[in-house]
Amino acid sequence: MVLEKIDQLAREWLEEAGNRIFMALEQVNIEVEAKADRNDLVTNMDRATERYFAEKIATHFPEHRLLGEEGYGEEITSLEGVVWVLDPIDGTVNFVEQKRNFAISLGIYQEGIGELGYIYDVVGGEFYFAKRGEGAFVNDEPIPMLAKENKLENALVIINTAAMHKFPQTLAAIKAARGLRLYGAATLEYMAVATGRADAYISANLSPWDIGAGKIIAEEVGAIVTRVDGSEMVITEKGDSFVASPGVHAELLRDYFR
Ligand code: IPD
Ligand code: CA
Ligand code: CA
Repeated sequence: MVLEKIDQLAREWLEEAGNRIFMALEQVNIEVEAKADRNDLVTNMDRATERYFAEKIATHFPEHRLLGEEGYGEEITSLEGVVWVLDPIDGTVNFVEQKRNFAISLGIYQEGIGELGYIYDVVGGEFYFAKRGEGAFVNDEPIPMLAKENKLENALVIINTAAMHKFPQTLAAIKAARGLRLYGAATLEYMAVATGRADAYISANLSPWDIGAGKIIAEEVGAIVTRVDGSEMVITEKGDSFVASPGVHAELLRDYFR
């Protein structure tokens, strides 16, 4: 019951937050600041979006917790109860530089289990959603299950630069693949794999809010989600991430990453 209520309100809030971001692109002076380094950006819209969710959640579900990038939630190391895992804008560099190719990402975890996932590509007009056990959708159209047997030689792979530094074998893996693609927003890279536009995404240094929703949606269409060495990816812990269709995941792991 509570999941139904969460789903109904989450959709309303995502739509409203998306509209505000869309309007801000046209009208508001976007204030940009660097955080940990000069490419780790935050804007007034990242903060305003997370604050909007924090206030809504506190009003409607005071017992739920928020795990968000910009610090309006709580310090969370375990997923007891209901936790809203939010990246108010994933792909902030794209938001600032391109005014597209970013998304709002929201995952709802209950006692550690990912129940609902939402990724809203505001400018692209794509709203991805999954409910555990009930499939994944983009703009209400079901996303087909991924083919199990795809091979690396036919695969487009997405590998971010942090992963290229950390895992030198990525260059050989890219050479063996059909091609390399990079989008600059972890959530949309997860959705590229979930929808079959790419076959694998390998990244280092991802945080819970980068992967919280993507994992739920990608797994719902049969993608395999692990750390780069094939071990379990615990979403509360920052680290590397490897999502791929089953055949490509197995091949990359066997020949390059184990
Ligand atoms: C970043 C993006 C980027 C990934 C970084 C993330 P942000 O998120 O998802 O693609 O490579 O590791 O931090 O800062 O734009 O929300
Ligand atoms: Ca992010
Ligand atoms: Ca962000």
